Amino acid sequence: MNIAVIGSNMVDLISYIEKMPKEGETLEAPDFEIGCGGKGANQAVAAAKMGSKVMMVTKVGDDLFANNTIQNLERYGIDTEFTNKVPGTSSGVAPIFVDQESKNRILIIKGANQHLLPEDVDRAAEKLKKCSLIVLQLEIPLPTIYHAIEFGNKHGIPVILNPAPARKDLDFEYVCKSDFFIPNESELEILTGMPVESEDQIQKAAMVLIEKGLKNVIVTMGSRGVMWVTKEKSQTVDSHKVAAIDTTGAGDAFIGCFAHYFVQNGDVLNAIKMATAFAALSVTKRGTQTSYPGIDEVEQFLKVRV
Ligand code: RIB
Repeated sequence: MNIAVIGSNMVDLISYIEKMPKEGETLEAPDFEIGCGGKGANQAVAAAKMGSKVMMVTKVGDDLFANNTIQNLERYGIDTEFTNKVPGTSSGVAPIFVDQESKNRILIIKGANQHLLPEDVDRAAEKLKKCSLIVLQLEIPLPTIYHAIEFGNKHGIPVILNPAPARKDLDFEYVCKSDFFIPNESELEILTGMPVESEDQIQKAAMVLIEKGLKNVIVTMGSRGVMWVTKEKSQTVDSHKVAAIDTTGAGDAFIGCFAHYFVQNGDVLNAIKMATAFAALSVTKRGTQTSYPGIDEVEQFLKVRV
């Protein structure tokens, strides 16, 4: 039941702030943490923490961050055979600002992630063919995403596409060939140009994507839960009420955990429920990967909640 994440890794530079400085202003912020992140790596770590065998096809720079990123993936048991260094390039970095309401603002400098090309997917082909699921996000070049979707289709491997960060130039001819499309509300808004304030609006916007040809649209809505929309039906799984302190990487937590449970038996609803609990626990701690719970913690959390 191997999962392949073809995607990004970043070094997260997280500042915990009271308020954003204005132009020309210097402000003191209470705290800073550095950690391993990147939407792809976060999703890989979330699936691995749940117990999946995960391989990651990604690129790091040849800087001081590179070995640490590789070692970090390996610490979680992730196969890094196709995690390669790009000479003369910096690793991806993400300055992140988390405010006192636990909300984040993220900048990404893609660095080596820009160099993950369709050829890299082909190089990993023999190993990828043995995987049960491919997971993609948008922090790598679009031609690589399209190629990976086609690779999955050709070899009968389901594909999850997390359209984050959202891009208006996504080619839906390829995107519609993914099996699960998992945006958050703001990504859904950017992709459809439709309002997403109410659940009704979110459902309508998701339905537009279904009409374009997508099979499953799963919208993560933060504290409002998760909406799963198909041609036939739409259903919402409620979120768990928790005391959030840092929501960074919660969407990735959801996707990695969803991937883990989906490959077990194809039960989408159960995978959404488990991933909702996993993501809820992740926002109760600081950081991205460092905030992800272990399987025991998730089981314990659900036992208390039921
Ligand atoms: O989704 C959160 C992630 O977005 C962070 O880890 C950061 O690296 C950016 O990729």
